[in-house]
Amino acid sequence: MTPDSPIRPTRRVEVMHGVNLDMLGRRDPEHYGSLTLMQLEQRISELAAALDLEVRFLQTNAEHEFVEHLHDLPGLVDGVILNPGAWTHYSWAIHDALELTGLPAVEVHLSDIAAREPWRRLSVIGDLCLATYSGKGPDGYRLALERLREALDGAGPSQEAGS
Ligand code: DQA
Repeated sequence: MTPDSPIRPTRRVEVMHGVNLDMLGRRDPEHYGSLTLMQLEQRISELAAALDLEVRFLQTNAEHEFVEHLHDLPGLVDGVILNPGAWTHYSWAIHDALELTGLPAVEVHLSDIAAREPWRRLSVIGDLCLATYSGKGPDGYRLALERLREALDGAGPSQEAGS
């Protein structure tokens, strides 16, 4: 399989949403738009299918669940897209768990975290991610899927669990 091969293998991507993202649709539409999380995930699924990516989703408001979910990802998926919500700005535990996965990762924020309150400017996971898309609304997820697809096309065969 060469990068320009017309047939590309399906790859598995985990899309992880953190704290308060289950409240999309009720949060400030100026920053977060009007889609609910379910509608956003539906849109991400459609975009992923067009790229031959199989997506799975997690949203949790419990930091330990987010961390433990990351612990379990190696062998199950080929890449990860994360929007950890406010944890982005201070959870070094999520940083360390993401690093442990060894998986290619892309960070997404619906709002432009660089143009809001100063405390939102720091992302503790940014250094581990291939790219960060911030302030592009749902389109950020399309860019993230495309970026991961590109990275995975250049990678070797998918690793099965336990192999
Ligand atoms: C967010 C930005 C964070 O600062 C905020 O705490 C969120 C959502 C975003 O998608 O824009 O909950 O990650």
